[in-house]
Amino acid sequence: MTRPWKAGRRCWICATITEEHTLRVVDLTVALASRMGVPDAELGHVRRGALLHDIGKMAIPDAILQKPDVLTEAEKKIMQTHPGKAYQILARIDYLTAALDIPNCHHEKWDGTGYPHKLAGEAIPLNARIFAVIDVYDALTSNRPYRSAWPKQEALDYIRAQSANTSTRR
Ligand SMILES: [Fe+2]
Repeated sequence: MTRPWKAGRRCWICATITEEHTLRVVDLTVALASRMGVPDAELGHVRRGALLHDIGKMAIPDAILQKPDVLTEAEKKIMQTHPGKAYQILARIDYLTAALDIPNCHHEKWDGTGYPHKLAGEAIPLNARIFAVIDVYDALTSNRPYRSAWPKQEALDYIRAQSANTSTRR
């Protein structure tokens, strides 16, 4: 049987799903989904989808995944296959099929310029839109090597300002 990943990437994904950023994003996504009326019975699927959102990166070559420089256009195209790879991996597991929306659609944008399906507006599953808001919020409010964390209110203002062209609307 051919596997789309190697042992090194399995270690990478294990490290990723246990890192602080991922766990924080999972908790915030579930909290926002609950606040927005997603039924309690669905929140387990939301949690699993958020936790596994980047599992498709297991199928991306290490040379791209760990490249310290800006990706070339060709490399970006390969990187942008990770939601589809996630779908391929997770759709084989019956109890995860209800959690596929976030891994498969977390890079779609409200204006249709996202990937991989170029979905727009409410065609993007609600759980994936909720996750995208939280992912941006957490990124902005976290320290990065090249900038300090934004204050929470500044991050919220930015998300509201961007709501016309991202997954953050509604
Ligand atoms: Fe991703």
